[in-house]
Amino acid sequence: CGIIGCADTDDVLGMLVDGLSRLEYRGYDSAGVAVTNGSLAVEKREGDLSALEDALDGTGDELRGTVGIGHTRWSTHGPPTDVNAHPHTDEDGSVAVVHNGIIENYRPLRDELSGAGCRFVSETDTEVVPHLIERERAAGADRETAFRRAIDRLEGSYAIAAVFAGCETIYAARHESPLVLGVGEGANYLASDVPAFVPYTDRVIYLDDGEFASVSPESVTVADVEGTPLDKPIETIEWDPEAVGKSGYDHYMRKEIAEQPRAIRDCLRGRVEELAASVSLPELEGLEEPSSVQLVACGTSYHAGLFGERLFQRRGIPAQTFVASEYDAGSVPVDEDTLVVAVTQSGETADTMQALRGANRAGATTLAVTNVVASSAAREAEYACYVRAGPEISVAATKSFASQQVTLSLLASALAGPQSHEFLRELRRLPDYIQAVLDRSSVRDLVGELLDADAYFFVGRGYNAPVALEGALKLKEISYRHAEGFPAGELKHGPLALVTAETPVFALVSGREHTAETIGNVKEVQARRAPVVAVTDVPETVERHAEFVLEVPETHPAVMPIVANVQLQLLAYWLANALGRPIDKPRNLAKSVTVR
Ligand code: G6P
Repeated sequence: CGIIGCADTDDVLGMLVDGLSRLEYRGYDSAGVAVTNGSLAVEKREGDLSALEDALDGTGDELRGTVGIGHTRWSTHGPPTDVNAHPHTDEDGSVAVVHNGIIENYRPLRDELSGAGCRFVSETDTEVVPHLIERERAAGADRETAFRRAIDRLEGSYAIAAVFAGCETIYAARHESPLVLGVGEGANYLASDVPAFVPYTDRVIYLDDGEFASVSPESVTVADVEGTPLDKPIETIEWDPEAVGKSGYDHYMRKEIAEQPRAIRDCLRGRVEELAASVSLPELEGLEEPSSVQLVACGTSYHAGLFGERLFQRRGIPAQTFVASEYDAGSVPVDEDTLVVAVTQSGETADTMQALRGANRAGATTLAVTNVVASSAAREAEYACYVRAGPEISVAATKSFASQQVTLSLLASALAGPQSHEFLRELRRLPDYIQAVLDRSSVRDLVGELLDADAYFFVGRGYNAPVALEGALKLKEISYRHAEGFPAGELKHGPLALVTAETPVFALVSGREHTAETIGNVKEVQARRAPVVAVTDVPETVERHAEFVLEVPETHPAVMPIVANVQLQLLAYWLANALGRPIDKPRNLAKSVTVR
């Protein structure tokens, strides 16, 4: 989601809407603003920003005011509707709140507040915040104290901003969600991302976790948890206007690759109980362990399906993945004990929807694993489980794939009962492992040496086999170079005929599973003089069999491929970049294909 706030000596509505238009890449299923001017006026609408703008056209002076906040939403709790759009208010409309992130403990808070007589109107986690503030105010706390006490009750991730009726200060706080303050002349700003206010000021203060900010037309102050003022540096930023919306990266794809640690943290949030070695997915309440699982999906989501299939099988649940356009529920045996899982980022892919509808008709139990709340897949499947990757703009899927892999890991674990502590611990560490790859990957330096190739091959075994397919798909999509992925054992059954000194082979080698066999396959291609790039968590074991090694942290064999894939994403990105391709919009491809 995107947050904007502005405290000015002039009317702020125009600035808020303008700021929101530069934050639409953070979410676009609904948008809203709140302006304070003695009382508090709120306008919010389902749909993209134009729906809000149309609504604002019809309003009068009530939205005139010098202090306000705005929000553009990407749903995580509750479908995109007018009521679920932000800002959210307390019952008498004296405080309005916008929020980006996930409040993990919103259910117990909501129960507590409902028990105390608060009336909730939305299905969001955010609405607990204005009610918490209202209760503190009713108990006599001043505005800032009430805000701090409310924030103190929250668990999870948040960037939150609040405005009060008749008050010129915006109060804000952050924990694991970005929030940046803009220092202007006679006006000050806050936003989830610099682009929102970049035309107005280039002087910024980055808020850190646990810090609180107060923004008024005259001043910006930051304090720690205890309320002690902090002397935060004001930085001057240089923004290439082209990079606005891409957090300074040249392409959305690069930005989305970099967002994976955050996306995975959001995906795991509140879902893993490491000590009890259990996973909780309340959205699947009532779903029993199925007799078998069929996964249906297209493109990158299909590769996530293949990964999920292996997870189910290892847990003793028979599973099979189908390319959605090839799935025919009439000819594959299904009954109500069969769980058909539609894996789809957009939740709108026509082939996947067709497969899902067929499964529904055939009487299977159906589940959508999707990134888009209330998408067609989420609505038409009996159950929906969200991957929480946030909006993905680049046509080539990256962070949504990682989040699908993690969601399917959670799903397989939830359905099959208690899990190994190690697997869940390593899943929890996954964001750090990916961050380590993002910080240290040497793949960019490698690309120059691999540019002149006839084709690129990707191989892996077990959990790594689907990632080999995905590595090849990513490369071909955005570089237009020929690339193929195979289960490593299949090389010798055909593709080996194509292997020469001009065909780099990327080999995914886990140190814990299929290590010797995969190295055996690597030797087969080495003997044909192919340059080998090993992507591995045991570099010492593989080193002498490879020209190049791309290292990933040592981890569980079902977690390693998720990390290894990040190296392959970066490879595809830097290779396509070196070739000058239009990375975010490759020719002939669309983000969401709604024709069959
Ligand atoms: C299109 C996109 C692919 C995507 C596939 C499935 O072909 O170009 O990147 O993997 O659709 O999309 P879905 O939204 O169902 O995951």
